Amino acid sequence: MYQGLIHRYRQYLPVSDKTPIVSLSEGNTPLIFSPKLSEKTGLKVYLKYEGLNPTGSFKDRGMTMAISKAAEKGAKIVMCASTGNTSASAAAYAARCGMKCCVLIPNGNIAMGKLAQAMIHHAQVIAIEGNFDNALDLVKDVTAKYPIELVNSINPFRIEGQKTAAFEVVEDLGDAPFFHAIPVGNAGNITAYWKGYNEFFALKKAKRLPKMLGFQAAGSAPIVLDHVVEDPHTVATAIKIGNPASWKSAVAARDDSNGVIDMVTDEEIMMAYELLASGDGVFCEPASAASVAGILKLAEQKYFKPFLGETVVCTLTGHGLKDPTNAMKCVKEPCVVKADIKIILKEIGL
Ligand code: F0G
Repeated sequence: MYQGLIHRYRQYLPVSDKTPIVSLSEGNTPLIFSPKLSEKTGLKVYLKYEGLNPTGSFKDRGMTMAISKAAEKGAKIVMCASTGNTSASAAAYAARCGMKCCVLIPNGNIAMGKLAQAMIHHAQVIAIEGNFDNALDLVKDVTAKYPIELVNSINPFRIEGQKTAAFEVVEDLGDAPFFHAIPVGNAGNITAYWKGYNEFFALKKAKRLPKMLGFQAAGSAPIVLDHVVEDPHTVATAIKIGNPASWKSAVAARDDSNGVIDMVTDEEIMMAYELLASGDGVFCEPASAASVAGILKLAEQKYFKPFLGETVVCTLTGHGLKDPTNAMKCVKEPCVVKADIKIILKEIGL
């Protein structure tokens, strides 16, 4: 029986017999081939569908580690700043082991599904009049002064858990992909994948390292612009971050892998989001679609021309159900008719 990623990858993770494992059977997510995106880009495109983790995002990989290690230390309270998914995940794992969870969110700027998750798991949710970057500064302050565990991705155990997604990709493909495309917000995940790929390469489980392709939203692209963005904006609220905590390690992943960190507009993100849902049957949240928007942009610019036929894995970081509001903005309301077979047949065009 699958028992979660700490169980599966124990030998590569900083856990011991003394670590009480707090798990919801996270990880082991599917790698889905996309014939349509492959045709569009000239690459072999695979989608690493992280929305199928227990709370609907990749954060669960890091959270099983962060909460297990907090429990090992005897922590009673955990805290994070969040654009939504981290708070949902922290709340669930804290609930599971009876810890108190406190989250700071940017007021009015998180998707409804994520807020509902944090609340139903009984986290204490404090909405601040400020953005994610302000919230993270506050959390760093509080956790430095009080015996509260910080579970944002500056907690190194988060990165340790998240690197296992790269292990899974290598095991599924039999090697690392040629490219790995990923949305970038606070930049923890690109850091974690790069670490995971390097570890499996050093152990000779992978014969090569991928080129990392990170994508920020154009209104929140500090790494691309090479300066802090004071007032970030984007429809992809999950990555609405102007001063990423793991900035340096994201740049290192880009440079060491001969990769790229670029930006995609909200229009490009929403096009990729709709294309994934309507063309591939894969529903992810807007921020997740930045990885696919990114490879479509690079394909358009002929960046892949020397690499046609190579493999690219796009991480889809969160499930589409997290953000029903954005989904409904892209579609027409269903038509309402009488419960009458003639009318129904006419509507269908039969
Ligand atoms: N995609 C989704 C759906 C996210 O929720 C996040 C980050 C990212 C991508 C970017 O990952 O920060 O490691 O570069 N969400 C954080 C949160 C900030 O609070 O849930 P990153």
